[in-house]
Amino acid sequence: MNERIEDRTRRTEWFRHDRFGMFIHWGIYSIPARGEWVRSHEQISVEDYEPFFKEFNPVLYDPKQWAHLAKEAGMKYAVLTAKHHDGFCLFDSKLTDYKSTNTPCKRDLVREYLDAFRAEGLKVGLYYSLLDWHHPDYPHYGDRVHPMRNHPEYSNEGRDFDRYLEYMHGQVRELLTDYGKIDIIWFDFSYDDMHGEKWKATELVEMARSLQPGILIDNRLEGSGEESGTIKTKNPSVYAGDFACPEQMIPARGLTDEDGDPIPWEACITMNDNWGYASADKHFKSSKMLIRCLVECVSKGGNLLLNVGPDAKGRFPEESVRALKEIAAWMKDNSESIYGCSYADYPKPEWGRYTQKGNKLYAHIYEECMGAICLQGLAGKVDHLRLLKDGSELKVTEFWNIKEYPNDAFFFFDEKRVLTFPLPDEKDTVVEITLK
Ligand code: GLC
Repeated sequence: MNERIEDRTRRTEWFRHDRFGMFIHWGIYSIPARGEWVRSHEQISVEDYEPFFKEFNPVLYDPKQWAHLAKEAGMKYAVLTAKHHDGFCLFDSKLTDYKSTNTPCKRDLVREYLDAFRAEGLKVGLYYSLLDWHHPDYPHYGDRVHPMRNHPEYSNEGRDFDRYLEYMHGQVRELLTDYGKIDIIWFDFSYDDMHGEKWKATELVEMARSLQPGILIDNRLEGSGEESGTIKTKNPSVYAGDFACPEQMIPARGLTDEDGDPIPWEACITMNDNWGYASADKHFKSSKMLIRCLVECVSKGGNLLLNVGPDAKGRFPEESVRALKEIAAWMKDNSESIYGCSYADYPKPEWGRYTQKGNKLYAHIYEECMGAICLQGLAGKVDHLRLLKDGSELKVTEFWNIKEYPNDAFFFFDEKRVLTFPLPDEKDTVVEITLK
């Protein structure tokens, strides 16, 4: 087997086991509160964006509380935006003045986050934007997404991209040198001719791996949410990354390489319709939908990185807190059906999904059924059944109306009630099936 694939498999072992992480998009864009792309979408100049820098002061930032919520929800790792596309740094970089320690808040927000999340036993990651709409040497006019893309007066004459690369590499070096063990670096993103060696990606990856030997790197030095890159081949490039990251969607059959072999992946998904805080966006997904989203990722061999966009004061939106607490309650009862689980040996059942870990098959039941619940193809294969939530016994039934289906196994939650409704947990009722 290809050595790079072997290394990747080894490095991602914990990641493929843990399955569930928290994404945090935070920056001075939480003040305009219209998402992290506000500068680009509204074509705001550096000068007009400056007031938010002068004002940023998240007095209620309490990363211990964030970490606690993540931990309780069953998340095993987190990724915080150290720098997003607007160029603002949440850490005390020596290479720029455009950083949190120079705002009224005066704090190194990255360091505090790292300390708090590590203290809860979570693995820690940092998102770092390859794009930079604040740096004078980053292409302005004519770039696909730069806020000044339509302004010829921001021509690129005299801009020295190599100087930008030195800055960008320098910041990555700072983050991977001065902040202890970092488990994930999440670069974002490549587009047009801005990909791979344009970022001096080989050098960047070699530096990252030499400073942090175990670190996981995403695939966006080469790809984006649109395209995964050579991670999907049997011959990945040096900077193909350790996992692919589909964005705001879950691939129908999980992610595989050209030969159909699974590759590590993580879907990143927002709770409402924005990554960064958006005060008017109340389109929040229910905890039921989010739990099912996690289960879907796991059932297809992937992870879920679920996003929270804290506000300008440093708080998670209350809708996100509520969802995290509801997910926490479900995970307390059912996390065995998530950690260490993956694809099942059986096709997706009618009433929900399967996840599997060795001889434990987990039935995630979403739909009420007319009569007994059917485990297709499992006749004679079930050793015993338990409701995962409380460990209570469920029995394979020989009920009179199923005799014509000898290949399938059936069970009731309650033999006396032959219609299976309502389900014990309407979000997702999990039955642990121990296979023979
Ligand atoms: C994107 C966006 C971005 C977000 C990221 C998360 O590519 O540019 O704002 O941070 O996806 O996956």
